[in-house]
Amino acid sequence: MRSPFLYDNIAKGKNFFGRGEEIQFLDKIVSYSNNALIYSKRRMGKTALIENFLDLKKKDFICLYADIFDIASKEDFAKTLLKALSNYQKSDIKIAIKKLTNLFKRVRVEPTIDPNTLEYSIKPIVITLSFEEMMDDFFGAVKSLSQNKKMIIAIDEFQQITTIKDTKIDAMLRKYIQERENISYLFLGSKRHTLTSLFSYKAPLYEMATHFELKALKIEDIFSYSKKYLNIAKDDIEYIFSLSDGETKLVLHILHLLYIQKEKITKTLIDSALNEILNSKDATFRMLFDTLNNNQKIALKIIGKYKHKIFTSEVLNEYNIKKQTLQSAVESLLKKELIDKENSDYFIPDRSFELWCQNMAL
Ligand SMILES: Nc1ncnc2c1ncn2[C@@H]1O[C@H](COP(=O)(O)OP(=O)(O)OP(=O)(O)O)[C@@H](O)[C@H]1O
Ligand SMILES: [Mg+2]
Repeated sequence: MRSPFLYDNIAKGKNFFGRGEEIQFLDKIVSYSNNALIYSKRRMGKTALIENFLDLKKKDFICLYADIFDIASKEDFAKTLLKALSNYQKSDIKIAIKKLTNLFKRVRVEPTIDPNTLEYSIKPIVITLSFEEMMDDFFGAVKSLSQNKKMIIAIDEFQQITTIKDTKIDAMLRKYIQERENISYLFLGSKRHTLTSLFSYKAPLYEMATHFELKALKIEDIFSYSKKYLNIAKDDIEYIFSLSDGETKLVLHILHLLYIQKEKITKTLIDSALNEILNSKDATFRMLFDTLNNNQKIALKIIGKYKHKIFTSEVLNEYNIKKQTLQSAVESLLKKELIDKENSDYFIPDRSFELWCQNMAL
């Protein structure tokens, strides 16, 4: 039996709801071959939005989706792009390989079985190629493909390019993006301050994309979807939404637990669903917390509780910590990506972890 509330894999088709305005916005972007930077807090639904959007568009566009979350080198980055390109269409594998062989100058391709899905996919063979050669082949192929059909190239977790120190990927991309026609780039990611700095004044990608913050789903949309499957009142949805602080994944996780419990929905039942989620993550969060030094632990508790104005003398006195000490602990938490910053407010981007820290700070 399948739950209609998908919280740990990407909701597609009829399990994907809301986001009408966002799809309209993206529609406009791609119809003019413009670029967009889409960012949000973690787990708001960027990947779900983009995957569903690309599904809608793949009749009229060549759609590439590359998730660069786990790249460890510039070569990985190029390989991920080449892999996305090699698999953009699920057609006859022989025809696809022939087409790709014509398209690439140096990259060879071969069929492989994807260990995750057990489906056939196409693997680019790049072992003898340099990063520059791979990039040249990728953008060469993209250029020739885009002459006949418009393209969308979505790069998810785009902030990961900043982890590559030996090449300025953003400067390189700028060159290719400027030369493009018929291609829209959609950059996605969640580390707000890293991402916006990639597109800030004087940075290579400055003004290369329209910025768009993906907000939480609308309560109205969550309610109309949920009531198809649950006997639930609007104010229960509002309550779930506020407990989750709008984080889509947590909202769906709570709804999923309510769905499988099949009991009459009350606030108490919602609270216990949330507790069940936090308890199931307790060991992981504890382990993570244990990797921090004392000042970092204090900083995390403070941010969980106060968010803004964390450097006031009341807060510093309450936790008996010096301003400078707190500042450097906050810096190291930012580096570890356990917290993020918006204007002068700090926050814990993972809502479950934030609630867990708040419980601890009591
Ligand atoms: N509009 C939607 N309808 C139904 N489910 C959704 C929707 N948006 C997101 N979800 C679900 O919420 C969960 C989190 O969404 P998703 O992974 O897309 O978020 P994200 O912003 O890409 O997160 P991350 O920052 O971790 O990459 C997923 O299980 C996804 O299926
Ligand atoms: Mg994602």
